[in-house]
Order: sequence, then C-alpha cells, then structure tokens
Amino acid sequence: MSRSRDEETEFEGVLRQIDDTVPFEPGYYNESYLDRRITARMRRRDTESHAEYERILREDADERQALMDALTINVTEFFRNPEMWDVLRDVLRDRTADQRRVRVWSAPSADGREPYSVAMLACDDPEIDESRVEVLGSDISEEALDNAREGVYHTTRTTDIAEELEPLSDPDEYVERDEDAFRVRPAVKRLVDFETHDLIRDGARDPFDVVLCRNLLIYIDVDHKAALFDTLEASLAEDGVLVLGMTESVPPDRSDRYEPIDKRRRVFGRR
Ligand SMILES: C[S@@+](CC[C@H](N)C(=O)[O-])C[C@H]1O[C@@H](n2cnc3c(N)ncnc32)[C@H](O)[C@@H]1O
Repeated sequence: MSRSRDEETEFEGVLRQIDDTVPFEPGYYNESYLDRRITARMRRRDTESHAEYERILREDADERQALMDALTINVTEFFRNPEMWDVLRDVLRDRTADQRRVRVWSAPSADGREPYSVAMLACDDPEIDESRVEVLGSDISEEALDNAREGVYHTTRTTDIAEELEPLSDPDEYVERDEDAFRVRPAVKRLVDFETHDLIRDGARDPFDVVLCRNLLIYIDVDHKAALFDTLEASLAEDGVLVLGMTESVPPDRSDRYEPIDKRRRVFGRR
C-alpha cells in the first residue's frame, strides 16, 4: 500500500480514534487487513478522506459500532473446509477409544458453528463416543457469543445452512428446522460451552486435547502472532492436536515443536 506522508498520518489518526473509542485493539492486526476494513466502511460513508472518516468516527456512535462489526469479521460455516473434518474424525475416534474425557477448544468460535460442528460430528459418527467429548467455544466478540449460545442459524441469500450441514448423515437429528431457521438441538448443545476469551491478552486455558485456531492468524500482526502461539501451546495437552486454517501455518521458529498429522489440512500433533 503506498500512501503519502500526509495520508499516512491521517490513517494513523483513524487507528488512534479506533483505539480510543472502539472496543477493539488495532495494534493486534496487520495493516493491510485494517486498511481493507476501514476502506470498506469509508466507501459506505461516501468518503475517501481518512481525516473526514476520523471525524465521523468521533461523532457517530452508530459508525463506531458498524466499524467494530466490520473489524471483528466473524465469517464462519458449519464444517468449514470439509476435508479437514475427515482428519478430525479420525483423531476423535482414536482419542475417545483411549481416553475417558476428550477436551476440544474452538478458539475463536465466532457464532458457534465450528464448535457445534465438532459436537455434531461426535454425535453422528458411530465410532466416536460423544459422551467423552467436551467442547469449549470462545471469542472476543460478545455478539458472536450471544448468537452462539442461542444456536439458531438462518439460510440467507449468501448462506446455505442445509448445504453446510451436508457432511452429516442425518442433519435433522442435530438441528430442528423451521423454514429458513435451523435450531441446534439440545443433545448437541449439551456438549458445548461458550466463554469470552481474548487469545492475545487472556493467556492460556486448561490443557485441551484438540485446539482449533482457524482463520484468525491471517489477520494478526506478525508481532502478536508469537503471543497467540504461546497461548495455544500452553493450552495444548502434551500429546495435543492443533488445527489451523487452510491458509495458515505454524511459524518456522516453532515448527520443530509440531509434527504434521496432515500437513495439507493443517492438522498438527504436538511433539
Ligand atoms: C473468521 S472468524 C473464524 C471462526 C472459525 N474459527 C472459522 O474458522 O470458521 C474470526 C473470529 O476471531 C475473533 N477474534 C478476533 N480477534 C480475536 C482475539 N484477539 N481473540 C479471540 N478471538 C478473536 C473474531 O471475533 C471472529 O469471530
């Protein structure tokens, strides 16, 4: 991205305004990601000037909320990247055969579709003992977590929930359908808890057997990736399994700590 010095100063002014008035930490995220999101909001507000947009942000609480929503993009799907779920299926089969309790952390969980997918997979596969599976979903977005706890998803012009649930043998066993609304059934919800957690600030959680951290690292500034990985590592059981997003990877200086279980699908075992 090439900006003049004046434009750079004005862009930084917008970032300062975000830091001061929006419950979001711009310093965590890489500049190209912030730039794309801010530019999209500026277009919606019909301005090309960062100085003008800074003024709008200062004066307009609705714009601050709209920008917050744009920045914490919580795009997700049930069974996102279906090929990864075949690898996870094998991991859960093995672990539930060997262990009394298998703890899975979906961090970040966005609106809950990822942790519910884990629970649905466990219920759906006859070789996985779902009574041994416990899932935690966490996110920094309270709004996403409210939606997750509610567990109702809608088919819209851009989202086809029935298609997302296709990897299941009988989706109706796990969701109650009312026209375009899909309500997650209690037998699935019972396996999943939700909590607020900031992966950079809040540090490690109890050791988990499986940690899914998908589609967040791509937005995180290089300086904060280490803190995030420290949290993930400290939250993994000794023989734990880490799953990243399909375009994400373990930083090279840490790759000796992980052994690929399936490199292409981004599933790694802790050494
Ligand atoms: C693109 S979604 C990924 C959801 C899911 N893991 C998936 O792959 O479909 C990214 C999520 O990260 C959350 N997030 C952003 N920064 C975070 C942080 N520092 N700690 C925890 N969650 C964060 C956002 O609120 C958003 O819900």
